[in-house]
Order: sequence, then C-alpha cells, then structure tokens
Amino acid sequence: MNEVMNVINSRRSVRSYAPGPLSEQEIKEILGCGVRAPNGCNIQPLRFAVITDKGAMNRYNSIAKKMFSGHLAAQIDENPPGLENLKHLKRMMDDPKYDMFFGAPCLVLIFTAPCSMTPEQDSAVCAENMMLAAHSMGLGSCWVGFASPLGKDQQVLKELNVPADHKLMAQLVFGHPLKDTGVTPRNEPIILKWM
Ligand SMILES: Cc1cc2nc3c(=O)[nH]c(=O)nc-3n(C[C@H](O)[C@H](O)[C@H](O)COP(=O)(O)O)c2cc1C
Repeated sequence: MNEVMNVINSRRSVRSYAPGPLSEQEIKEILGCGVRAPNGCNIQPLRFAVITDKGAMNRYNSIAKKMFSGHLAAQIDENPPGLENLKHLKRMMDDPKYDMFFGAPCLVLIFTAPCSMTPEQDSAVCAENMMLAAHSMGLGSCWVGFASPLGKDQQVLKELNVPADHKLMAQLVFGHPLKDTGVTPRNEPIILKWM
C-alpha cells in the first residue's frame, strides 16, 4: 500500500480528544485540502464556519441536543420501526453529560451556497478530504450528524454570518486523539457484478 492508501485505511472516527488546541495553520491546511476535493462543475459552492471557542461549542452542543431530542420525541410518538434505537438516541441527547463534540477543540461547519448543482456530493467529498488530511497530520476527526439541527437555529446562523440561502451540510470535529482506538471494521466490497 502507498502512503495515501495507508492514510485512507487507517482513518477512524475519533470520539475522545485531548484538550490541546489546533493551530491556525493546522486548521487552514485541513480546510485547504477540503476545497481541493472534486465539486460539481467546479462551481466551488462550499463555505465554512470554524469554531474553536469552547464556550460556543458547549452552547452549540446544548442547542443541537435539545433540538435533536425534540425531533426524536416527535418520531417516537409515531411508533415507527426501530423504536428502541430512537429511544436510546433520545436518552443520549437528554443526558446532560453527553458531549456530541467529544471535547474536541475545533468544530468546522460546511455550508453550501445556492449556486451548487450537487450540494450533498460536494460537501461529502470535501468532508472526507478534510478528515483524511487531519488523519495524515496525526489528528483525529469525526463527522457529527447529531449537530445538523444547528442549521435550523437562526441565532446560531446569525452569529456565524451564514446567509439565509446557505444550507448546513456537514459538521466535523478535529483535535488530538486521546487514545488509539484502532480502525473500525469493514466488510469486503459487495460486488453485484464484474463483467
Ligand atoms: C453523515 C455521517 C454522520 C455521522 N454522525 C455521527 C455522529 O453524530 N456521532 C458520531 O459519533 N459519529 C458519527 N458519524 C461517524 C460514523 O459513526 C462512523 O463513520 C462509522 O461508525 C464508521 O466508523 P469509522 O469512521 O471509524 O470508520 C457519522 C458519519 C457520517 C458519514
């Protein structure tokens, strides 16, 4: 395996971080690798909010947990399949000790401007580039889907200077991993046909 393949194959989501900050240079390098990702028609529609302020991250954690818990409560009321999973998630969101950002020193929110033709794909490949770049630098990362309700909080959007027509697409934390947890297992590729 070459160096790139090694980085791809050894990346894993990191869910506990040392308190030490990332340098501005490190964050800029990660963002720079993000925008190098392919994007539809090279329109380059992605915009970023970088949050390193601990107080803001704690506040965003509380806001997102409350919003997500409310969303789960409405779903649970409808008694859908997978009810126990939803109840488990709701208990996590309602636990005052649960930190969806795992103590990471840096949160990056990826938004798309309305000019994007392929917003989901553009933001996902950018996010993966950023997580791989971080891993190659000895840093950890995790995509925090639980934080997606922040994209609906007008006060948060206002304080982050997000224009009204931009959409929050991805929420990533970065930091120094507290421990080496090893890679998460994967199945072999399931090939439907090779002809
Ligand atoms: C769209 C998306 C949302 C995710 N949201 C969360 C999350 O809210 N919390 C979390 O701990 N992990 C989250 N993850 C990480 C996945 O759980 C993780 O990628 C998966 O378990 C595989 O593990 P690995 O990244 O270590 O290989 C998310 C990943 C993706 C792609």
